[in-house]
Amino acid sequence: MLTGAGISAESGVPTFRDAQTGLWAKYRAEELATPEAFLENPRLVWDWYVWRRQLTAQARPNPGHFALVELAKRVTDFTLVTQNVDGLHARAGSRDVIELHGNIELDVCFDEGTPVGAGEYRDDGSVPPRCARCGAYVRPGVVWFGESLPRRALDRAEAAVGSCELVLSIGTSSLVQPAAGLPLLAKRHGALLVEVNPNPTPLTPHADYVLSGPAGEVLPELVRAL
Ligand code: APR
Repeated sequence: MLTGAGISAESGVPTFRDAQTGLWAKYRAEELATPEAFLENPRLVWDWYVWRRQLTAQARPNPGHFALVELAKRVTDFTLVTQNVDGLHARAGSRDVIELHGNIELDVCFDEGTPVGAGEYRDDGSVPPRCARCGAYVRPGVVWFGESLPRRALDRAEAAVGSCELVLSIGTSSLVQPAAGLPLLAKRHGALLVEVNPNPTPLTPHADYVLSGPAGEVLPELVRAL
């Protein structure tokens, strides 16, 4: 299973590219989700992520997330790969979720790239806070544009799509690589490709089945039909 921002839309977490409502309709990704933007204006980027963290903290998993928890109990060899940084799959009860783009709840030292947790911040009132070890700014533990994905997560995702019989691409615009290439990789290995999305995407022509509708409605229906 590959999920994108669309599966969290019904939880009130804005997607990125939906017209008007998507984050990138309001903010320029280049100004907020790149290492260059952070270096240029750390406070602006940090405050934006504090706002997004509040949004995801207030959000609750929806029936789409819970349906995937249920699906995992019914099929052997279930792998859940997500582009989402909101942590809602884990909060719904999904285990061992492969987070390709990191997790917004985590902090990382900008210079060392290592996690920064409780007691590891410099107590100097700095915003963004600073790493107690080296004094560099702390940044959110998400993958920014122009950055490579966590190696182990990508390797695990590629291994899963290389050996699966069925791949569901759920709530993603299939525009951002390398995640967008995973369902096609699975198809090339002989898997059946099913897309769940209320809108067409570049993946739609390649899908064997398209379940056109909101994930929070389509996925529980799918589980009930099993
Ligand atoms: N159920 C299913 N799909 C939905 C729903 C819904 N309720 N609502 C919207 N969608 C679909 C939209 O039609 C769109 O195709 O979800 C998709 C959301 O696309 P994006 O906003 O582009 O999100 P995503 O594909 O996850 O973006 C990929 O881009 O900005 C970066 O790092 C960020 O992980 C993100 C990556």
